[in-house]
Amino acid sequence: MNRLSGKNALITGAARGLGAQIARRFVEEGAFVIINDLNLAAAQAVADELGGSALACDVSDAASVTAMFSQLRDVTDRLDVLVNNAGIGGIDPGDNVALARIAGMAAAIQAGEPVEDGLGGNITDATDESWHRMIGVHLDGTFFCCREAVKLMQPHQSGTIINMGSVMGTFGRPGGPAYSAAKAGILGFTRALAHELAPHIRVNALAPGWIHTEMTDPLEPLHFMLEAQTPMGRLGEPDDIAWAAVYLASDEARFMTGQVLSPNGGWYMSQ
Ligand SMILES: NC(=O)c1ccc[n+]([C@@H]2O[C@H](COP(=O)([O-])OP(=O)(O)OC[C@H]3O[C@@H](n4cnc5c(N)ncnc54)[C@H](O)[C@@H]3O)[C@@H](O)[C@H]2O)c1
Repeated sequence: MNRLSGKNALITGAARGLGAQIARRFVEEGAFVIINDLNLAAAQAVADELGGSALACDVSDAASVTAMFSQLRDVTDRLDVLVNNAGIGGIDPGDNVALARIAGMAAAIQAGEPVEDGLGGNITDATDESWHRMIGVHLDGTFFCCREAVKLMQPHQSGTIINMGSVMGTFGRPGGPAYSAAKAGILGFTRALAHELAPHIRVNALAPGWIHTEMTDPLEPLHFMLEAQTPMGRLGEPDDIAWAAVYLASDEARFMTGQVLSPNGGWYMSQ
């Protein structure tokens, strides 16, 4: 309790999933949260639940991010914590071709046959648009939000930034080059920015493994395989990430900067 007492925290993509759970735990620990998402009504619903504020913007758009931070200054002139969480998995739950591909992969694995598809299809089918969207939301979004947040943090000579990476930033997954490239970029960006902003502002990354959220729902047919590959025998829950975020945001992590913390149940042990 009170590990984040008096701190203002902006969490992007927090209308659901990991971001919303991070916000819940931050509030329990005494923080005031500002909930960002694409859709204001969805962000507002979480903000209302938590007694926080809501600000909508697409983090991949620099002008929208600048406008959001200008609105943020109407709420507070102090930002203690930024969590760059907004993200996309690249598999649309309404994409029947992708769902059929995933079901086919699961059937092949269960039959002991070779798996020829990648989760997100093959590189020859990838479009410029899907590539740019993946890099834009994750990598551009993280950069745009950090650039604005640092302007608020530097005058106070304090603050902490948590960037959402993934085990996929270091582990190559068939069918996910754009996602892996975006997450690997976030890890490199985190280390360089941590260097630049030390000693007053800390910058770290989380690299979750497979966690139950709406992002991973379309992969449900493959959950049996992921559970079998995970020494802890299960996918993670949002709280497995939220508590790690609380730690990184709190003064308990005062000697942590430029680091990657990876709650992943042992699925990948070399972050
Ligand atoms: N769930 C996992 O297994 C897992 C694993 C590793 C990393 N991650 C990362 O964690 C983060 C959260 O994932 P999640 O599982 O909670 O996903 P989710 O799909 O449940 O939630 C993502 C949220 O981000 C929002 N969002 C998407 N694009 C946005 C944009 N351009 N601007 C603002 N908001 C935007 C969505 O509207 C949504 O509310 C993502 O960065 C994801 O890549 C998730």
